[in-house]
Amino acid sequence: NWVMTDYANEFIEQVRETVGPDGHVIGAVSGGVDSTVAAVLMNKAIGHRFHAVLVDNGCLRKDEATKVLKRLREDCGIDLHCHDAADLFLGKLKGITEPEQKRKIIGGTFIEVFQIEADKIIKDAGRCDFLLQGTLYPDVIESISYKGPSACIKTHHNVGGLPASMKLKLIEPLRELFKDEVRSLGMALGIDEPSVWRHPFPGPGLAIRVLGEVTDERVKILQEADDILIQELWNFNVYRDIAQAFAVLLPVKSVGVMGDGRTYENVCSIRCVTTTDFMTAEFYRMPYDLMETISNRIINEVRGINRVCYDISSKPPATVEWE
Ligand code: XMP
Repeated sequence: NWVMTDYANEFIEQVRETVGPDGHVIGAVSGGVDSTVAAVLMNKAIGHRFHAVLVDNGCLRKDEATKVLKRLREDCGIDLHCHDAADLFLGKLKGITEPEQKRKIIGGTFIEVFQIEADKIIKDAGRCDFLLQGTLYPDVIESISYKGPSACIKTHHNVGGLPASMKLKLIEPLRELFKDEVRSLGMALGIDEPSVWRHPFPGPGLAIRVLGEVTDERVKILQEADDILIQELWNFNVYRDIAQAFAVLLPVKSVGVMGDGRTYENVCSIRCVTTTDFMTAEFYRMPYDLMETISNRIINEVRGINRVCYDISSKPPATVEWE
């Protein structure tokens, strides 16, 4: 796609000019298409003066940190470094059940961890001048509308930048692009298809999908259910028909029967939506045999879940995420 290749080359030139011959850039990479594309561009522009960091907040998908590290290092040639902050995040989330409070704690802790990483770069390289963010055009619009007088709906944690004390200037190469354009750019840059087509994943991760208190144990239960869901969407060849799919662990237990015994375990809800812009969304009309496979596998394979529901709410009035 020549338009996207031009866009990439133009951006690379621009970055080299802005960052200068000695500047250093730090960037958070989650493994999603936006941060991956942004990182590949930055890596092409300034190589080792770009420092890519994956923050493991203990609320990532199953084996996510390992997979993302491998993919970015081996396929994209990016020297991604993982900061394991799982204990720090989960410690701070202990006892917290209110959704906005969870989001604020996660956002604040992320900044704390990022400051540590920026300080390390300053110590080693003598400077760290810029922060790379994979912000898209809809993120810019949404964060403006979310701050409107009608009160904030949710605190999105990757928009709006960092506190002034960090003294980093923002670089946002994708600020003018829509998601489909980022995907085309990803293809033009040679990023593999499963990565290019990955559904979005929120910054606070599974913490806003474990409703109620987030504990290591509950995150692990949800990771297993989520993993089965995504596997089966690929198996049934519908992953790309859906804009976003995930499981939610409810703070509710229900009675079930397993063999001869009574069970009293967690309820899990599956959320699959179709949308173009995430401002409105419809529930995905999932084939019954796929529903059955997902439900049977989750209940049989995930210890701690004995009931699966399917979320049939549209946005609005519901939102995509439950918190
Ligand atoms: P809602 O729940 O607001 O979600 O309908 C719309 C889209 O935004 C994603 N989302 C987030 N993404 N940081 C992110 O990077 C966040 O804090 C966040 N909260 C929601 C959500 O997954 C959906 O794609």
